[in-house]
Amino acid sequence: MNIAKDWKDYEIIDMANGEKLERWKNIKLVRPDPQIIWKNKSFPKEWEKANATYKRSNKGGGGWNYKSELPDSWQIKYKELTFNIKPMGFKHTGLFPEQAVNWDWMINKIKSAKREIKVLNLFAYTGGASVACLYAGASVCHVDSSKGMVSWAKENVISSKLQNRPIRYIVDDVVKFVNREIRRGNKYDAIIMDPPSYGRGASR
Ligand SMILES: C[S@@+](CC[C@H](N)C(=O)[O-])C[C@H]1O[C@@H](n2cnc3c(N)ncnc32)[C@H](O)[C@@H]1O
Repeated sequence: MNIAKDWKDYEIIDMANGEKLERWKNIKLVRPDPQIIWKNKSFPKEWEKANATYKRSNKGGGGWNYKSELPDSWQIKYKELTFNIKPMGFKHTGLFPEQAVNWDWMINKIKSAKREIKVLNLFAYTGGASVACLYAGASVCHVDSSKGMVSWAKENVISSKLQNRPIRYIVDDVVKFVNREIRRGNKYDAIIMDPPSYGRGASR
């Protein structure tokens, strides 16, 4: 397993009892994580400094309990890349920090290709990989069925000052879009796919 160890704006401070305490720049959040099966906190005092905690409800879903006022969104940087963080439903923040190892790998591959690289990013979410590939010099086709996620990806591209690089944003179902691309004979050098365990299509 590769560890995303180059973050400065993000860290996991502690983990215990099915929860993790994370720092996103200067904001500390507690989020559930079922993989954390051990009980003892290593730094119990640190948990008291959390700005917000996501609590699952026993009726399904859950919500954020705020201990202090939080901005609606704030920015964190990974090397030259800038992302907008927002505490959302389903404990999401709009970024999976562990993906940074993949971004580094993609950046390295694209830069060392020494030619124009066309990337198709499927289930592209808020565009972590799209931003990384654009930064490395690739052209990107960013596909996600959620209009809200595609707008958020645009914000991340702009915040990373990459808005003048070649990116196409597509709000569509991945299967429909890929079938259209096959019919049109469009080809890509690299395809990124990080699908959820079940898709929701283009109905949202
Ligand atoms: C787990 S996220 C992907 C995370 C992303 N690769 C990253 O690292 O930031 C899954 C995304 O797939 C999208 N999605 C789910 N089903 C889809 C479908 N059938 N077609 C297109 N996008 C879909 C969701 O809207 C969501 O943004």
